[in-house]
Amino acid sequence: MRILTIETTCDETAAAVIGDNLEVLGSVVASQDELHHMYGGVVPEIASRAHLERILPVIDETLRRSGVALADLDAVAVANTPGLAGSLLVGLVAAKALCVAADLPLIAINHLQAHVYACRISAGCEVFPCVGMIVSGGHSSLYRCRTALEFDLLGSTIDDAAGEAFDKVASMLGLPYPGGPAIQKAAETGNPKAYRFPRSLLGDREVLDFSFSGLKTAVRYTIAGPGKPDFGNIHLNETQVADLAASFQEAVVDCLVGKAMLALEKTGLNTLCVGGGVAANSRFRTRLGEEAERYGVALHAAPLHLCTDNAVMGAIAVERFRAGCFESLDLDVLPGLVRNKG
Ligand code: KG4
Ligand code: ZN
Repeated sequence: MRILTIETTCDETAAAVIGDNLEVLGSVVASQDELHHMYGGVVPEIASRAHLERILPVIDETLRRSGVALADLDAVAVANTPGLAGSLLVGLVAAKALCVAADLPLIAINHLQAHVYACRISAGCEVFPCVGMIVSGGHSSLYRCRTALEFDLLGSTIDDAAGEAFDKVASMLGLPYPGGPAIQKAAETGNPKAYRFPRSLLGDREVLDFSFSGLKTAVRYTIAGPGKPDFGNIHLNETQVADLAASFQEAVVDCLVGKAMLALEKTGLNTLCVGGGVAANSRFRTRLGEEAERYGVALHAAPLHLCTDNAVMGAIAVERFRAGCFESLDLDVLPGLVRNKG
């Protein structure tokens, strides 16, 4: 079996060819970071236009690297939910066109399930059932994952996603986009106890939700002064940037690790899979490893190259292929997250 997987949910244009043992025959990711850099975040219109320019070259290059022709494929799979509407549409239309041209079945990929599936690919063994945690620029959520394809929402952010907070705080500190890697780097020389930032909802053992908006505001007021919305001529020196970055990162990590452990306790599950861009954070990975060992939990964090958006994690399409889950050409994009909290 050979499946072409396509990923255009946000600002990465990606494709891969996956075999039936989840082996990657070829994979290409075209990042748009340089286009969104100056805005400090993803601009949806710019993202969809860039996808349009890149999607066909990315698919061509993926097939070339895989040594696979269109006629050798068994299916085309595409992430159609959740994500930016315009971005999702480009991938979906490309996938449908290939299905028509080569008479192939179409498979839908849920991008969040794919982020968790990145852990299954690298584990090389079964990881379900597990608690699945997705921490990215658009999402911070915890799921009870019964199987690769059956997820019940346990909790999610009530405002900003963790990655979004990293990106916004990086911009306040004068650090480049994407903010996560920049904050991680700056934090290396900083003191995580220099500033005491809030850990919203962490003390509430009744909920598995997150909130990062208050933390973001706390960083802003620490820099600008209480109640002051802008920074005027304030200039931060290197030590201040490092200390603010380290203290902010520690607060986010405390919340993420705390709720992940609470989710394991509440569900009685003892496997944790963590994916999404923020899962690449080294401090987060260290803390997760320590807590998992302490609680005797099997931890599967997605490998670094599969944390941020890519099409390899679309290997989840193999599960759908086996389950006979194919879509008609009426398939639409579903930009929003369908909340079935259970
Ligand atoms: O999964 P992803 O590529 O896209 C979404 O689906 O949102 O995640 C991108 C997010 C960005 O907000 C970026 O700042 C964050 O992941 N990120 C990190 C790190 N690397 C990427 N956050 C913290 N530490 C990192 N090392
Ligand atoms: Zn993502």
